[in-house]
Amino acid sequence: MAELDRKGGSPAVPADWTYAPAPESKDIVKLRERYGLFVGGEWLEPTESYETISPATEEPLAMIGQATKADVELAVAAARAAFDDGWSSIPGSERAKYLFRIARILQERAREFAVLESMNGGKPIKESRDVDLPLAAAHFFYYAGWADKLEYAFPNRRPRPVGVAGQIIPWNFPLLMLAWKIAPALACGNTVVLKPAETTPLTALLFCDVLRQAELPAGVVNIVTGDGRTGAALVESEGVDKIAFTGSTDVGKGIQRQLAGTGKKLTLELGGKAANIVFDDCALDQAVEGIVNGIYFNQGHVCCAGSRLFAQESIYEPLVDKLKRRLETLRVGDPLDKNTDVGAINSSMQLEKIKELVESGRQEGAEIYQPPCRLPEKGYWFAPTVFTNVAQSYRIAQEEIFGPVLSVLTFRTPDEAIEKANNTPYGLSAGVWTEKGSRILWMAQRLRAGVVWANTYNRFDPTSPFGGYKESGFGREGGLHGLEPYLRFD
Ligand code: NAI
Ligand code: MG
Repeated sequence: MAELDRKGGSPAVPADWTYAPAPESKDIVKLRERYGLFVGGEWLEPTESYETISPATEEPLAMIGQATKADVELAVAAARAAFDDGWSSIPGSERAKYLFRIARILQERAREFAVLESMNGGKPIKESRDVDLPLAAAHFFYYAGWADKLEYAFPNRRPRPVGVAGQIIPWNFPLLMLAWKIAPALACGNTVVLKPAETTPLTALLFCDVLRQAELPAGVVNIVTGDGRTGAALVESEGVDKIAFTGSTDVGKGIQRQLAGTGKKLTLELGGKAANIVFDDCALDQAVEGIVNGIYFNQGHVCCAGSRLFAQESIYEPLVDKLKRRLETLRVGDPLDKNTDVGAINSSMQLEKIKELVESGRQEGAEIYQPPCRLPEKGYWFAPTVFTNVAQSYRIAQEEIFGPVLSVLTFRTPDEAIEKANNTPYGLSAGVWTEKGSRILWMAQRLRAGVVWANTYNRFDPTSPFGGYKESGFGREGGLHGLEPYLRFD
């Protein structure tokens, strides 16, 4: 009877998906009480400090330096000295050795880094362990391989390093973004001053220990912590030859304005509002997995997140049904639990932003669905959310939410899908789900997005260039293209 009920009525979902707790131990991580600024291979005592916390528990983790303008100038001077003092002129094969060492040490210490990344940022250990750490190491391995082959990458163009690179990174993939920035810069013979995001400085600070182990010459990599003021000081510093920024479109635009006419090189990797387009001939269950991965991976704190789902009208209902059912099986909670799928929101500020945009979705008339889930009392949490009945004009269809919130829209023809998908100020990524190869190519040519995934989503590889169109920024990271911003050819 129960069997029959299930077939005719509600979907066959087990009543209880409870797993026994499987927490990863924190013992492997040794936190210091306070951290300095890493300048010229030494720890510099900061004049001002702030507390960094675990967003899952709000528990304090350590005191972090807020680097001042003067501190930033010291770091830039150290980077310049290291550049002039040999780093820019040693053979590429020597630079490669350091990068290979860093890559191997990251692999060896992967568990320690993964646990720390989850403690400080709130992302599930499953992701920091299986995505962030392997990809960070892979990035160093990959660019180590280019260090002595730049003449072959750019034949007859005399590639030379730019000088001192100022690099500002966000909090969604702290160590991975550090790797994206530092690996190509060093491979090309530049030195670096990097500023991690204020909420997630700990893996960048632990990385300084990797540099020591790798015996990287002092001053080649300098890490200055602090908030936007420290970032602004780095952008303004006259000793910096190139700025690489990943973060919000607003701050990116400001940096571009500020650097206009200075001759400093600039790359910007900014926000996104990606379309994930599902055609009626696709493998539906596979698409559902891709949609879930596209928007709930890393709590949706992903610039290329598939935050707008375009469902072909003919499959709208079964697709949304399957999606809602799948959502019920997502486990939200302790980032250090190996079974957790969705962790904590990175900060109270980001949580407020998500709540505000979700409220606007309700107000404008969209229909909200959240699976039943018990959120922890302490910390910053938001349940996986799906909005249906969304119009193109709604804020939740236009603005980057940067949280676990999906907006579902529909289309009838491929032309309509293209028109709607491109109707955004952003252009970072897109997804296409169809069994038809010719349609994938047709779509990929028309989508104004730096990356188009076909029958998959959120796939990263160091050999593949990544970057945006329009307000998603310019310049590419990864692959051979990722070398160019760190070279001059004149
Ligand atoms: P943000 O752009 O303020 O922060 C990113 C980095 O820039 C941090 O290291 C920050 O300290 C630094 N920064 C802030 N102001 C600066 C300035 N004036 N000059 C130089 N550096 C500065 O981003 P925020 O406030 O953390 O997040 C706001 C929104 O931005 C998010 O809700 C999300 O929509 C978007 N975002 C997009 C990211 C991406 O990967 N494309 C990453 C982080 C945020
Ligand atoms: Mg900001």
